[in-house]
Order: sequence, then C-alpha cells, then structure tokens
Amino acid sequence: MTGELSPIDKAKFVAAKRSVDYVEDGMRVGLGTGSTAAWMVRCLGELVRDDGLKIKGVPTSTRTAELAREVGIEVISLDEAKWLDLTIDGADEFDANLNLIKGGGGALLQEKIVATASDQMIVIADVGKEVETLGAFPLPIEVIPFGWETTKSLVEEMLISMDVLGRDATLRMNGDRPFVTDEGNYILDLHLGRIGKANQLAMVLNQMPGVVENGLFIDICDVVIVGYGDGRVETRDINEGTVEEDRLDFLESENLFTDLQD
Ligand code: 5RP
Repeated sequence: MTGELSPIDKAKFVAAKRSVDYVEDGMRVGLGTGSTAAWMVRCLGELVRDDGLKIKGVPTSTRTAELAREVGIEVISLDEAKWLDLTIDGADEFDANLNLIKGGGGALLQEKIVATASDQMIVIADVGKEVETLGAFPLPIEVIPFGWETTKSLVEEMLISMDVLGRDATLRMNGDRPFVTDEGNYILDLHLGRIGKANQLAMVLNQMPGVVENGLFIDICDVVIVGYGDGRVETRDINEGTVEEDRLDFLESENLFTDLQD
C-alpha cells in the first residue's frame, strides 16, 4: 500500500505520524482538518485501538469529527473541553516564524478558535508548504453570506493600501454553488501573491464588517513538523529554537495502510 503513495502523501504521512508522539494519555487534543490532519487522526485512532491511548478529541470540522469517530477517538465539543492541551493541524503555507496561511479546506474559523484555545499548536506539513514570504497560496477569508459582494469590493479596495502584490478576491465555489462553511458562511480567496505585513493585514481584515475571520495564523503555531517524501521529518520548535531531524520507517505503519483499504 505505501508503494502507491505519492512522495507528497508520504511526506504528509510521516509528519502526521511523528506528531502523535506529542499526544499523551488524558490529553484533550484539537484535531485539524485536511489531508495531512486526516493522517494524524488515523494514526491517533491506531494508538487508541491498539495501545489503549485515552484522549478526548475536539474536531475542527464535521469531516474531521466523522473520521475521528470512525477510527475510535472520543469526540467532545470545545465547550465541553474548555481548554486543550494540544492542537495538531495542517497548513497551506508556513514561514520561518511559523506564521501560517490556513483555510484551503474551508475550516479556518473553527481551526483558529481551537488552536487559540490550546496550550500548544503543532502544524504538520509536507516540505512544499514552506515559503519565504506568505501569500503565494490564496488567502482564504470567511465572510457572512449577507452582502458578500459588497464585502468583496470593500476588501479589494482596502487591499490597495496593504503591502501585497495582487488584490483579486474570488468566491470559493462547490460546483455551481458557493462553498458553504460549517458555520454557514462563504469563503473569499484573496490572490495576493505576496503578503509583506501579514500581522497588519490580519488585523485590518478582521475589523471589516462582514468578515468573520481570516486564514492568517500569526504567533499561534509553536512547532512545525515538516515531512519529506523519503521518510525524513524535521521538527522545528519556535519557542525552544530547536530543529530535530528524524526518519520514519513506513513498514512500521503497514497496519494503518491495511486499515485504510478496508
Ligand atoms: C483546512 C486547512 C488545511 O490544514 C490546509 O488546507 C492543508 O491541507 P492539506 O493537509 O490537505 O494539504 O487549513 O482548512
């Protein structure tokens, strides 16, 4: 089964596999959304089933909640958990300061709430997500459906005074209808090319009426685990200022891949 994985999927898998080493018995864990986070949820499920790991998971989307239940993780709401020990999630881009663009999967609002309510946020990503400057990946912002076209125009106008290269905003679609988030909102993808002052942009966006949240995660992530297609993983801890290198053996995980085929 592992032979069928692309190098990017292998990179995502090894990052996810390494991240579950941070999860301990009794923890309340925020469960991210996306393909990398899905690997992490499966790895955690394996530990719950096979090793009796006892955790409670707070999912960041209905998709993740379904998968978590499927693999045997006890799911609770954020309000039940109140505070989390750890959140593990993917990202669309990360820079050297571990600032992120998230929301490619449309779950940025719940992801940001959950990550912010955690002692620690760990991002798991393939090395292709690393950038010098954020912004090549279109920045998702979640907007209220009411008056979204007006909000879009106002956002584009506001971008004139920001340190960005482009300022086109597009409504995210799901087939011929707008994509609707778990909270019933729309997503605008901002094609900025390069974001010079991410902190400033994040603050200005969130002051605009109609904008619920933006996909810039500034000073939220503590650790990035970077996966490579050959099984190498690099763990970068921004607080400790450390970088650890490791290599994961795919063979150890054959049960997991067999499970996936069921
Ligand atoms: C979802 C996200 C994801 O974490 C991000 O899009 C990365 O996804 P993937 O792991 O599939 O590359 O922010 O809203």
